Order: sequence, then C-alpha cells, then structure tokens
Amino acid sequence: MGNPLACTFTGLRFENPFLLSSAPPTESDSNIMRAFDAGWGGVVTKTIGLHPVVNVRGPKTKFLRADADGPHLSMHKRPGTALHSSWNWELISDKPLDWWVPRIVRIKQAHPDRILVASIMAGSGSDRELKHWQELAIACQDAGADAFELNLSCPHMDRKDMGSNIGKDTAQVSIVTQVVKEVAKVPVWAKLTPSTTDIVVEARGAFLGGADAISSSNTFPSLPLIDPETLEFEMNVDGYVSSGGLGGPAILPQSIAKMAQLTQAFPDKAFSGIGGVSTFEQALNYFMLGCGTVQVCTAAMLDHAIGPNVIKALNDGMVAFFETHAGKGWRSLEDIRGCRRDRVVTHSQIKRPDTKEYFGGHDARADDDQEGYAQVASGG
Ligand SMILES: Cc1cc2nc3c(=O)[nH]c(=O)nc-3n(C[C@H](O)[C@H](O)[C@H](O)COP(=O)(O)O)c2cc1C
Repeated sequence: MGNPLACTFTGLRFENPFLLSSAPPTESDSNIMRAFDAGWGGVVTKTIGLHPVVNVRGPKTKFLRADADGPHLSMHKRPGTALHSSWNWELISDKPLDWWVPRIVRIKQAHPDRILVASIMAGSGSDRELKHWQELAIACQDAGADAFELNLSCPHMDRKDMGSNIGKDTAQVSIVTQVVKEVAKVPVWAKLTPSTTDIVVEARGAFLGGADAISSSNTFPSLPLIDPETLEFEMNVDGYVSSGGLGGPAILPQSIAKMAQLTQAFPDKAFSGIGGVSTFEQALNYFMLGCGTVQVCTAAMLDHAIGPNVIKALNDGMVAFFETHAGKGWRSLEDIRGCRRDRVVTHSQIKRPDTKEYFGGHDARADDDQEGYAQVASGG
C-alpha cells in the first residue's frame, strides 16, 4: 500500500496535506524549520509586505475559554475550561522583505521536499501599489518559494485598498490576482475573507484573475467581550479596542459553511481549508467537502508554538482513517475528496414528515404566492 498521506495540490507534491497557516507559527525561519522537522507537509509564511507595520502595545493574541459546566465565556485563564476561540489583532510580518528572502533560501535548501508558500500582501490603489505585489512575488519565487498565497483577507487593515478590504471587492481581487499571475512561475492561491455576503462572488473574481486555488477562511471579524467586573473589553489598550479576528474551534462550523459554498460552485477547482482544525476528524470536514489541503493556526499556537503534537495527531489520524476504511477501497485523499459536497442542499430539499409538505417558503397552493399573508376573504 502506498503512502496514504501524500497528495498533489495545485501541481505541488505534498508529503501530507497539512500546512501551518500564515500566522505566528510561521513568523520566522527557526519556527518553520522546527515545523518541518515536526512533520508538517507545508507552511504558509507569515504575510510578507513592503509597508512597515507596527503592532499594538501589549498582547496581539488571546484565547477565549468556555466553562465546562456553565455558560461563562472569558479570556481569563481559569481551571475547568475548554478552548472556544483565539482572538487577534496582529498585523502582517513586521520583518521586511530583505529579512525574509535569505531565510526562504535557507529553509528551502534545508527542506527541499517540503512546501513553502509565501504569503504576500500589498496595496491595490494605484499601478505603483500593484507593482509592489509583483516585487514581492518575484523576490520570493527567486528565493525558492513553491507557491504564493495572496493575503486578500487580513481583517485589521485601515487602508481601503489592503487586506480584507481588497477581498470584499471582486474587481480588486481579480486585478491583484492577475497582476501576480503575470510574473508568477509558481501556483498562486488567493486567501479570501469570510466577511462578505457571498464568498462565491469573490472566488469567481480570483479564478477570473487566474488563481490556482482559494484558501478559506481567514479569521472572522469580532470584538473581545466586556469584562462584567471592570466594564472594560477583556483585551484593550488604554480602554480602546479595534475589530480583530476570531479563529479556533468556534469558527469550524462557519468556515466549513463557506467552504461548502465554494466547492459546490467550483467543483473542479482547488481549495485549501482553514479554520478551527486541531484533529484529523475536523480536517476530514474540509476534505469531504472537496479541499485538497488543510491549514492550521490556533491549535498550533497552543502546542509549543508550531504544533508538533497537532501534526502528529493529524498524520496518525489520517493513516488510521484509511486503515479503518480500507474495505471501501479508500486509499488516499483523492478517494474521499468531495464525497460529502453534494449533501449540502437547499432547506426545502430536506425530507419533511411523511404527512407534511414544504415548498421552501412558497405557498404552492396559492396563486398569488404571498407567504405570510392571510387569504383575502371571498365575496366580502
Ligand atoms: C495571531 C494571528 C495572526 C495571523 N496572521 C495572519 C497573517 O499574517 N496572514 C494571514 O493570511 N492570516 C493570518 N492569520 C489567520 C490564520 O492564518 C488563519 O486563517 C485563522 O487563524 C483561522 O485558522 P485557525 O482557526 O486554525 O486559527 C492570523 C491568525 C492569528 C490567530
């Protein structure tokens, strides 16, 4: 039997389909080297930009925990709690491009068979800004990056032509993707924001621009909770807070809902699933909806910064899954990829009790089809 973990995604061969997503676990060469030693099939670097960033004073990420035996949710560390989510307002890498380039070279020299995806981000408000995308792309690919992930999804950018503000504008998504494709010799993945009405619209823009894959989700825009005792946000600087991003277990159901929309709309395209994964059972959701790889951030941050136990559990879980299901003829990811995609249907397609019928909000008996309005009394 072959290696059930190996897979090909956007033409790249992965030892296993699991990557560390763009975030603190991939913020340095030492972390990335440790991650490869621990067994990750790939990494997406912390997003590299040309514009200098300065992060807020104090912590950039905290973890929201839920009491096991009550409704209490809080960032305060306390016993008897389970992880609910991560909350962050960290900007992109504070290291410049010329810090990253020699490090990408060194990482690839040390780990030629692991996949290094360079996450990049620039503005999109002028031709000069668009050239920045190309400058970043050329420098990273010349250093040996195997692919790009375009950060069209960072939720903390004030600029209207950056991050998730690009990701909310289909035309900008298309233009930026096309600009990078003009110079790219390696696959281009577009990482979209979940914070739009219909992610299929932005994905279409990315594919029109030539994207080889879509990555989804980035974090969901959110605020920390107000502490009922201090009456301050649990995370703040001098009492002030700004919109940040929610990740971790809480976003798994929301992220797979976005992914189901995407893979149904584009069944033949490539998708990298992100959001709320720490076990193989969770990653399986993304695979069965049609993803070819899965990325992890929050769970890895909480496991020795780069997730050595998480990747072991993911790989072991995947091997055990294919052993358990060998009788079905399932030997590798391609045998199960997308096998539950078509189980997500419109509400009215779900079976009702035998004696009842439902017409999806339409009243099939009335000619005027006005749901919610009483029948006009006849003859009155
Ligand atoms: C502290 C922190 C920093 C992040 N920085 C980036 C980033 O620079 N670029 C990016 O594309 N995503 C960034 N992300 C988003 C993650 O890559 C990932 O999409 C998100 O956390 C959802 O995955 P998770 O549920 O496994 O955490 C960041 C997330 C966190 C928690």
